Amino acid sequence: MDRRDFLKIGGAALAAGTVGVRGSDGGEAQTAAAPGPAPFAAPPIETVRIAYVGIGGQGGGHVNNLLKIPGCRITAVCDIRPERTDWATKKITEAGQPAPAVYNKGPHDFERLCETEDVDLVYNATPWEFHVPIMLAAMKNGKHTATEVPAAMTVDDCWAMVESAEKHKKHCLLMENCNYDRMEMMVYNIVRQGLFGEILHAEGGYLHDLRAIKFADEGEGLWRRAWATKLNGNLYPTHGLGPIANCLDINRGDRFDYLVSMSGPSRGLQDWAAEHVPADSPKRQERYVLGDVNASLIKTARGKTILVEHCTNLPRPYSRIHMVQGTKGLFQGYPNRLYIEGRGKEDQWQEASAVLNEFEHPLWKEIAAQAQGAGHGGMDYIEDYRLIKCLREGKPTDMNVYDAAALSAVVGLSVQSVAKRSAAVDFPDFTKGRWKTTPPLDIVHM
Ligand SMILES: NC(=O)c1ccc[n+]([C@@H]2O[C@H](COP(=O)([O-])OP(=O)(O)OC[C@H]3O[C@@H](n4cnc5c(N)ncnc54)[C@H](O)[C@@H]3O)[C@@H](O)[C@H]2O)c1
Repeated sequence: MDRRDFLKIGGAALAAGTVGVRGSDGGEAQTAAAPGPAPFAAPPIETVRIAYVGIGGQGGGHVNNLLKIPGCRITAVCDIRPERTDWATKKITEAGQPAPAVYNKGPHDFERLCETEDVDLVYNATPWEFHVPIMLAAMKNGKHTATEVPAAMTVDDCWAMVESAEKHKKHCLLMENCNYDRMEMMVYNIVRQGLFGEILHAEGGYLHDLRAIKFADEGEGLWRRAWATKLNGNLYPTHGLGPIANCLDINRGDRFDYLVSMSGPSRGLQDWAAEHVPADSPKRQERYVLGDVNASLIKTARGKTILVEHCTNLPRPYSRIHMVQGTKGLFQGYPNRLYIEGRGKEDQWQEASAVLNEFEHPLWKEIAAQAQGAGHGGMDYIEDYRLIKCLREGKPTDMNVYDAAALSAVVGLSVQSVAKRSAAVDFPDFTKGRWKTTPPLDIVHM
């Protein structure tokens, strides 16, 4: 980001009230700290050589995206299932690239890959328990690394990512695709322009009926349900939290301070199994501890509040909540609507589609045609595109290891709080104070 861009954003942040005065809520005084150094950037890479690990439902989508993005090649693939490395090899050669090196000799073959292959980036979409081991192996062997969400399931593993990224001077990214969804980017653009005023509160969540997927004999059914027998908290916070954290300048002027979390009873998976799973199946012996609805409240250092919810075991339509509220107006998702004081009719919601032309994020305008048809409405392509672009240009990535740690820490901290009758638990300051001076996120472009 050049100085002119920074001044532009700094001005917008001022207008948005993100650099403002102390409230009456005990939040830390918010003074306009001098901007610190830009976040970590690595030397530019002309053609990004990628090893892809975990080529299931989500990894397959990323492989397809990366084959369409200029300036990168997939030179190695890894999965415990040879049919998936075969599938990826076919896709890669059909796209006109040389056949990749293949690693499919068991759940730790990614270690051999990281030790052997000369690649720039190891990107994984494996089950949650493998994210951190793969990223640590990649960085130890001199590679940048990116992971599907959440990055880590414990606070210790969040620290392990941060320490390794700092030690080896490598990117270690959480690939939060929802940060790039059309509404989320529009809302971020409106926030930056200051129309909602100072942002005081936000809500997000992952409310998705995954019962059939969790009980399937393939894909996520092979690993995701098991987590519900082990942990009670918010196991999947980042889809809802990522975009609203950006609106609140988390790690770039503010940070998560502490959290309280509460889970209700666990009924959904038991009930579903009783109706759909034969009585003699070993699945019927499982006992679930994950509360069907978990609600966590986060207080930020600047005194702002955030609600994050998780609900994946009950019948319900999909929602990420997506609410962002400021001193002059608010956005509320599902269905998408907004209210800005002085615009539209008093006390009445305006449909978000009515302002899309005016406030569409520039990146979406520029890239929507290319992203069409890609996973999750196109946002997965956009996040992959931005990752490769930043690596090629040697720029800081949109999200960095501190975001990966702060967003993912909600998993471990919510589990701790639930187990302690919702006692407040502190977030570590993974940035060691740099959140105070890191400049706000740019309005990014193609
Ligand atoms: N961002 C999103 O919208 C989104 C959507 C779906 C899944 N995800 C995330 O993507 C990840 C994968 O989910 P999925 O739905 O693709 O699951 P999946 O089960 O379909 O795919 C996982 C793949 O990893 C492989 N695998 C398992 N252990 C491995 C190991 N040790 N080494 C190499 N390969 C291994 C499996 O064989 C499988 O092909 C998870 O972290 C999940 O949370 C994100």
